[in-house]
Amino acid sequence: MKILVAGATGRTGQHVVRFLHEAGHTVHAMVRKPEQRDAMAALGAEPVFGDFTKPLGYTLQGCRGAVFVAGARDRANMSEIEMVEHTGAFTFVETCRRLTVRRLVMLSVQGAHDPEAAPEQTRDWVRLKGDTDQFIRENKLDFTIVRATALGDEPATGLIKAAPVLPAPEGEIGDLSREDVAKVLALAVDDRNLFDRSFDIMPGDTPIAEAMGRL
Ligand SMILES: NC(=O)c1ccc[n+]([C@@H]2O[C@H](COP(=O)([O-])OP(=O)(O)OC[C@H]3O[C@@H](n4cnc5c(N)ncnc54)[C@H](OP(=O)(O)O)[C@@H]3O)[C@@H](O)[C@H]2O)c1
Repeated sequence: MKILVAGATGRTGQHVVRFLHEAGHTVHAMVRKPEQRDAMAALGAEPVFGDFTKPLGYTLQGCRGAVFVAGARDRANMSEIEMVEHTGAFTFVETCRRLTVRRLVMLSVQGAHDPEAAPEQTRDWVRLKGDTDQFIRENKLDFTIVRATALGDEPATGLIKAAPVLPAPEGEIGDLSREDVAKVLALAVDDRNLFDRSFDIMPGDTPIAEAMGRL
């Protein structure tokens, strides 16, 4: 399948690109700077220009699937977060619907289904992610929403915990490796059992494919 990865140049996105390419997909990697092209090509992807501040039609042209792992680079800038992860994501979903994209896998955050229960310091962001998730559900796409706990850049463990809704972690559970998250997203693309479903993931002790198979 021809798949566009939005956020391909990010810390999660680069792993998603690699895993999708290894799985035999034709990967289009969204880039917003010319100097990002070579790195995406080296991962086996075709770089395609795209920016959430601009129309996205050309970026998604010809794709049947999309994975959204884009996020604001400045995590302290709420208006940038809103522009990328809310306004940009809505435009992305609408463009998918208007064109030929049918399969959409979204990286969301744990608690997005119930933002009022989120800790105060992240509640506004979690609410934006929840709105975006709801907008995806209301559109006629084959979607999967993966809600992750806090991400980190540790090497992959290959192990997670997954369920339709997981209780908020009690105490320190450590970050979820972005590489593990990317594996979940890439596997989800081809998993018909996960169409029209949302689920939570966090660090755990079950091999990723097994944890996803139990959903
Ligand atoms: N941090 C967490 O703990 C956590 C937890 C759960 C879910 N998430 C979700 O994870 C995602 C971020 O993953 P990450 O930390 O791996 O991201 P990241 O490394 O910060 O990379 C962000 C990506 O988004 C792209 N991007 C930023 N602004 C853009 C714009 N205006 N137009 C097009 N692309 C743009 C960046 O492109 P450039 O390379 O050009 O900057 C980059 O590819 C977000 O959707 C976030 O909600 C995060």
